[in-house]
Amino acid sequence: MTSMTQEQFQDALNARVSTIEKVLVSALPKNITKQKTIADAMEYSLMAGGKRLRPMLMLEAYRLFGGSDEAEIEPFMAAIEMIHTYSLVHDDLPAMDNDEYRRGRKNTHIVYGEDMGILAGDALLNYAYETAVEGALKLKDPANGLKALQILSRKAGVYGMVGGQVVDVELTGKPISEEQLDFIYRYKTSALLEASLMAGAAEEEIAQIECVGRLVGLAFQIQDDILDLTSTAEELGKPIGSDLRNEKTTYVSLYGMREAEEAVEEYSKEAVEILENLSEENEFLDQLIVSLIHRKK
Ligand code: FPP
Ligand code: MG
Repeated sequence: MTSMTQEQFQDALNARVSTIEKVLVSALPKNITKQKTIADAMEYSLMAGGKRLRPMLMLEAYRLFGGSDEAEIEPFMAAIEMIHTYSLVHDDLPAMDNDEYRRGRKNTHIVYGEDMGILAGDALLNYAYETAVEGALKLKDPANGLKALQILSRKAGVYGMVGGQVVDVELTGKPISEEQLDFIYRYKTSALLEASLMAGAAEEEIAQIECVGRLVGLAFQIQDDILDLTSTAEELGKPIGSDLRNEKTTYVSLYGMREAEEAVEEYSKEAVEILENLSEENEFLDQLIVSLIHRKK
């Protein structure tokens, strides 16, 4: 399938992360006066060094479908990472998972207070759309930007991540069925990964790439469950055992560790198979998905 060595892949990955970080820094709000606290809190949370998976998938899908002017997709890459970051900031609040650490440092609400934690999430979500709309208006054909915005807003909202989080929160501490777990994972985690891949996709292949996003999301969330039990706080950048503490049913608690590990591999391979059957090809993207099977954080 691939001719890239592990080292070449790692170098390519690092290069992309640093490109994305530059895009994020330049997208942050400028000319802030009295509302400086919120700009600081936005920067603190956005620049905390995540894996940058969603903007990376978006860029690779844009390339896969023949996009060549990366300035076109950059505002959307920034937007999806802002949406992802807001979701983490709010997920860590006392009213939700009540976590103090993520990405190896204190969470936004711990550093800036709960009020500013809420507002930083609100600000990031709003600013994400502000950034994407600006980007859409600059496109040769703004209608393409409008389509990307439609995907982004839908997958982040009631029919996507927020919908999944609602069911996750409601069912925390309760026994849940396989069907309910599937719903939570597809909405809470897969939806944003689907949006990342779909935003720059060609119309004819949008359903297939959505399916790739769903599978990658399921694999990603199951690996998240596994790491919460098997990793260390140092490696993960946040305390382990959070699902047990929060009495959450996970893929591992429902199906067992072995089945969970097999599912990560199975879903990831299925995703790569779909990608390989598309008329276009992106070797880095294939490799990126495979690398997530064995991710350690
Ligand atoms: C970790 O991403 C995040 C997930 C596995 C998704 C969990 C979903 C939520 C927390 C939804 C919350 C929704 C609302 C509306 C509050 P990652 O491992 O890519 O994190 P990184 O960017 O730090 O690497
Ligand atoms: Mg949570």
